[in-house]
Parts: sequence; C-alpha cells; structure tokens
Amino acid sequence: MTMKDRYGRTINYMRISVTDRCNLQCRYCMPDVNGHLPMDRLLTYEEIAFVCAQAASLGIDRFRITGGEPLVRKDCEVLVDLLKQVPGIRQVALTTNGVLLGEQLDGLTKAGLDAVNVSLDTLDRAQYRAITGRDELNRVLDSVYRAAGRLPVKINCVVQKGINEDAPVKLATLARELPLDVRFIELMPIGAGTDLETVPNTEVLAMIEEQYGKTVEDARPRGNGPAVYRRPDGFTGRIGFISAVHGKFCSTCNRMRLTSTGELKPCLCYGDTVPLREILRDGIAEKEERIRAKIREAVMMKPEAHCFEHRENVTEHRKMAQIGG
Ligand code: 5AD
Ligand code: SF4
Repeated sequence: MTMKDRYGRTINYMRISVTDRCNLQCRYCMPDVNGHLPMDRLLTYEEIAFVCAQAASLGIDRFRITGGEPLVRKDCEVLVDLLKQVPGIRQVALTTNGVLLGEQLDGLTKAGLDAVNVSLDTLDRAQYRAITGRDELNRVLDSVYRAAGRLPVKINCVVQKGINEDAPVKLATLARELPLDVRFIELMPIGAGTDLETVPNTEVLAMIEEQYGKTVEDARPRGNGPAVYRRPDGFTGRIGFISAVHGKFCSTCNRMRLTSTGELKPCLCYGDTVPLREILRDGIAEKEERIRAKIREAVMMKPEAHCFEHRENVTEHRKMAQIGG
C-alpha cells in the first residue's frame, strides 16, 4: 500500500513527538521550564502505537520519535519496542539531544532502535552552554562515541548567524574520525527561531571545502529526508545539508507529524492539525477505520510547499518543542 497526497507525493514517514519537555533550553527552541503539558493530554505509548499501526496499514512504514527531548519521558524504549512489533513497520529511529542517550542506549538498542540522530550545534564547551543553557557537552559527546558504530548515527547542527557560524568546520571532524554523518540544518523561522537568523548552507559548504578540500556528492541512496550528502576526501562518514530555507525541498516531502497531544500535523510551516485524541478515547467502536480516515484527511491537507521565505505567512505559532522538529 502506498499513500499519495494531492500533489502526487508518497507519504511514508511519520515523526512522533512524545513530550514537549526538554532538559536543555536551546535559544531557537526554548521549551517552557514550567508550563508543560499535563500527562493526561499526552498520548500514551499504547495510543501512539495504535495510531502507528493504522498509519502502517496505509503505507507509512518509517517512524521517528522526537520531543521536546524524547528521552526525558519515562521508558522511551517501551515505545520503541511497541512500534517494532507493529506489522509492516520498517524503521524506528529517534532524535535526541544526546544528554540521556548514553545511559539509555542499551535499553533502546535492545528494544530494536534502528538509528539515532543527535542534535549538537558545536564542539566548543562555552558555545554549547550559550546555545543550550546547560553545561552538558561532555555527556553528549560521550553518548555519541558510545552510539557510533553500534547503530547508524547522524549529528544535526543548526547554524545560527553570529552564534555558531564557526562551528561546522570543527563539527565535521566527527565525520572524519567516526562512522557517522554530520548534517547542517538551516534555521527555520518557527517558534523562538523566528527572531534569529540562519546561515545559508552554500556558505557552510564553502567553509567545509576551504578546510577539507573539494567534496563529492555521495551517491548512496538518501534516507527518509531532504538531506543531500557530500564527502570530503579521507572522511569516514558524510557531511549532509538540510537546506530548509534556501533550498526548497517540499516537492519531495514524504512526511506527516504526530504531536504529543495526538494531533496530526500536515506541514511544519502551518498551524492546521487533525486531532486524534478524542477518537482514541471516546469509547465508540470502529476506531481503526476512524483513525485511518483522519490520517488520510491529514495527508490530503498537505500544502504544496512551506512559505518560510515570507515569514508573515507562517501560521505555525507553537514552539518547536511542541512539534518535534
Ligand atoms: N530550525 C531548524 N531546526 C530546528 N530545531 C529546533 N528548532 C529549529 C529551527 N527553528 C532542530 C533541533 C533538532 C531538531 C529536532 O530540530 O536542533 O536537531
Ligand atoms: Fe531541547 Fe531540542 Fe529544543 Fe534544544 S532544540 S531545547 S534539545 S527540544
């Protein structure tokens, strides 16, 4: 089964936010320290797995668990395990800030986690503290070293003008020394990111090539997302570019998002959602069919493209921690 939207795009990937909480406070994200959601508004792991089973029956067979920070929610490996048992699911991955990854890695891999992305914007301790508000760089690096080689790892770096513009060259050394990919993401004007400025990925590539020489495009098949990969000579891993702002990749969008409160979100740029929680909890029969109808509805709502280049037209006013990136 494959599911297509109105523009002929195959939708086969879902990002699942399991919490809006986080143990960091990245300046472009800024999760509330106090004001987070009450537990009963969050979907339970069982409810999430139920939604994913319906999604899988429609052709959505790759999933990514996100937050906030997913590993601050209790027993995240239980969700991994539940999802891995759903018939037809091909991949379950996780995006984390890495602070708690080291200590939870055994449980997660035992549950069958297929891959992990670690958000890390710099290798400089003071810069890390300035961006995230916490002094956790060493713990994150320890997690990265432990995970690399055990399962596929990608490092995600959001580049902010005037803040960590100088970070990419050093971060790239991780891909030179370790079997992992380092990717650079253009900051999107969402949530606290609205008031900050990104650095175009063309500039990041120029900095990388100045240091490491000409890169060649990596021909291996791409993952589930819009990253394009290049490899400098002598590197173990690859350098990836997610040009969310300056390189519009909407024509190949393959994704749906599920928020922690159980809303399907057709596009990162717009506030429209399709709520599922009522259906999951209303005690009325035929839940499978009703959830599947809502998933189809959300897929049909997907717009042709984002409008990040016209900030005034962005209708998503929630914070990134509530959406999951
Ligand atoms: N633009 C781009 N990426 C963002 N992230 C959070 N906010 C933004 C933004 N405004 C990233 C985090 C993490 C991923 C889940 O989303 O750094 O890597
Ligand atoms: Fe936490 Fe991720 Fe937001 Fe940083 S970007 S504060 S790690 S949710």
